[in-house]
Amino acid sequence: MSQTETVYLDGNYTQKNEAKLSILDRGFLFGDGVYELIPIYNRHIFYVENHLKRLKSNLNLINMDSSIIDDMQILDIIKDLVSKNNYINHYIYIHISRGVDKTRNHIYAKSGKPTVLIMGESYTPFSKQDIKKGKSAISEDDYRWLKSNIKSTSLLANVLIKNKAYDEQAYEALLIRDGYLTEGSASNVFIVTNNVIKTPVLSNKLLPGITRKFLTDLIKKYNIEFSECEISKDDLFESDEIFCSSSTNPVVPITQLDDKVISKEAGPVSMTLYQHAQNFIKEFQS
Ligand code: PDD
Repeated sequence: MSQTETVYLDGNYTQKNEAKLSILDRGFLFGDGVYELIPIYNRHIFYVENHLKRLKSNLNLINMDSSIIDDMQILDIIKDLVSKNNYINHYIYIHISRGVDKTRNHIYAKSGKPTVLIMGESYTPFSKQDIKKGKSAISEDDYRWLKSNIKSTSLLANVLIKNKAYDEQAYEALLIRDGYLTEGSASNVFIVTNNVIKTPVLSNKLLPGITRKFLTDLIKKYNIEFSECEISKDDLFESDEIFCSSSTNPVVPITQLDDKVISKEAGPVSMTLYQHAQNFIKEFQS
């Protein structure tokens, strides 16, 4: 972290290593808040309308006033941070909690003032070589709550699951609820069967990923066969290709799932979509 990196916290620009929160902030005490993660490519803010629309919708879903997004002019703040910090390839993290209460109380004050943190984080996307080689994943019971469509800052289950995968030298954990695939611990999941790309239908059980939307836009543009449908655990294990999508890495092929080798390396459909995504991003950032 650069000593001079500027972040936005509650109306002020401050240094990342000096920004402080109250111990009575509901985000700290209860994980009572929502967040967004938006990639920056060559200083350009990717799919920003979709990200801000999802943020607003998440605020509504947790009974917070979403008008702050427009009132605060969040887009201007993001642009300020990109220019103040000279972010080239980064991501922007937006965290909105229900704010600071007088006491620790499950019941929130209806008139509370939200806490808003906006900051950048650096990351290194996988190289094309890594993508071609593919990653391994584990399967895991989806024991999270039944509002996984909300991009909530309460991520304990996701954190435990992702760490289980990490401890087993896997990139991701693919989650199964009642015999059906939902998503990954920090990504959406697609499979390929007989050249048809499939992904679980949106519901309360998975996040409506912005990269999922970006990829489905590309799939339609290039007339690739596609289906949003229920995917059973057997469908997942018997698929020809699997890939995960998230804002930090749009297409990550999974070549091994538990003990099952899905493919020796990333499959042709995953690689084609990966290349379309890379080309789109290249054009977007120029
Ligand atoms: N996570 N599902 C879950 C549970 C996620 O945490 C994420 C992203 C996604 C993909 O969403 P999107 O395409 O909008 O990034 C799906 C981010 C990267 C994170 O929490 O760090």
